[in-house]
Amino acid sequence: MSPIFDRHTAERDAEREESLQSRFTQAQKMEVVGQLAAGVAHDFNNLLTIILAQVGILLNEPLAEPQRKRVEAIHRAGERGCALTRKLLAFSRRQVIEARVFDLNALILDLAETLRRLLSENIELVTCCGADGAMIRADPRQIEQAIINLAINARDAMPRGGTLTIETTTAGADPAVGPGPPGIAAGGSVLLAVIDTGTGMSEEAKAHLFEAFFTTKAPGKGTGLGLATVHDIITQSGGEIACESAVGRGTTFAISLPRVRGEVTPTADQWVYGDLPRGTETILVVEDDDDIREIAREILTEQGYTLLDAADGDRALRLSSGRPGPIHLLLTDVVMPGMGGGRLAGQLSAARPEMKVLYVSGHTDDVIAHSGVLLRDQAFLRKPFTPLGLARKVREALDARSPARGAVSPGAEPR
Ligand SMILES: Nc1ncnc2c1ncn2[C@@H]1O[C@H](COP(=O)(O)OP(=O)(O)OP(=O)(O)O)[C@@H](O)[C@H]1O
Ligand SMILES: [Mg+2]
Repeated sequence: MSPIFDRHTAERDAEREESLQSRFTQAQKMEVVGQLAAGVAHDFNNLLTIILAQVGILLNEPLAEPQRKRVEAIHRAGERGCALTRKLLAFSRRQVIEARVFDLNALILDLAETLRRLLSENIELVTCCGADGAMIRADPRQIEQAIINLAINARDAMPRGGTLTIETTTAGADPAVGPGPPGIAAGGSVLLAVIDTGTGMSEEAKAHLFEAFFTTKAPGKGTGLGLATVHDIITQSGGEIACESAVGRGTTFAISLPRVRGEVTPTADQWVYGDLPRGTETILVVEDDDDIREIAREILTEQGYTLLDAADGDRALRLSSGRPGPIHLLLTDVVMPGMGGGRLAGQLSAARPEMKVLYVSGHTDDVIAHSGVLLRDQAFLRKPFTPLGLARKVREALDARSPARGAVSPGAEPR
């Protein structure tokens, strides 16, 4: 072996080592940021749940016009707080994925107004959505987040104005043809393109753009998390994303998502107490945050239910064993000090096999977070929840045919 060859090999090894080392450091950094984000978001979600639920209740009371305006402003701020925690959680992958079947075209049309507000006046927004439904199965809030991130990047790439086009097309089999349960892959895909007429990207930027912390923006202007989040969201939803860009000629992000059979899962926004689903069953609420427990109690009592509550798993078990009558539903936080919701549900269900379970959480934990699938089959309510969201999920869980238990194994204890 020649000495030159030797030197080259050694250099290459050193380079490879350095690159491995830096990737490792990067991975560690991500892990820490992820944990931090998830921790903050968990507590923050509890606060937002209290704020939004209380404000929701206020908005259902007769208010004079100036007061109503103020309360609505608080509500909007709360919603923005939610968007922020969602961004953090999506990034740290601790977010509860609440997949449902929806029409991507309808989501884009709904989102258009928000996008127009985000874009500067010299940017024209063109939405071009096919007339037939573009049904996909994903978490609509995550998909919204992904589109917003792409639109913000496009805006930043068009400082002197231009056009942002958001386009959907469907490809492959028509899901309307042939029988099959809703939500099941129909064979084709839904294609979403986000196209700008901005600066475009260098080869260097193209090579790194989906990496977390890769940014060409000035400090304080960009974190480099936007596209990493978009990438995560799309792959989590079973889709793919690609980018085409040339300096001076603009950029296209092309996303493909599996097309599913129709039947939109209903969403929950506006509500009045009179419209909330009601019931007379007995519900046991287990939640360590006093204010959240209190709100759940207030909302559900108002809807006719009989409420029992406990601040932790041990108390819940004692309460249950001292109560001869039925408990129709256990509504429990997943992550609590002491016994977590999963183990509690396991133990309680053993004694009360007919009892249904509805889990509540602001984020998944690694333990339950093979969850994407696991939680999808569970009755699950995401924090922060609204009164309507709570009332609907409770009714759904109560009306479900078989008790939703055992899917979070009693042995697997969340943190
Ligand atoms: N539409 C686009 N046109 C030109 N360059 C883009 C476009 N989208 C992304 N980029 C490039 O990719 C980089 C990474 O984008 P990303 O969204 O991940 O982070 P960011 O926008 O810099 O920061 P953040 O989104 O976290 O605020 C950007 O800094 C920019 O250089
Ligand atoms: Mg960005």
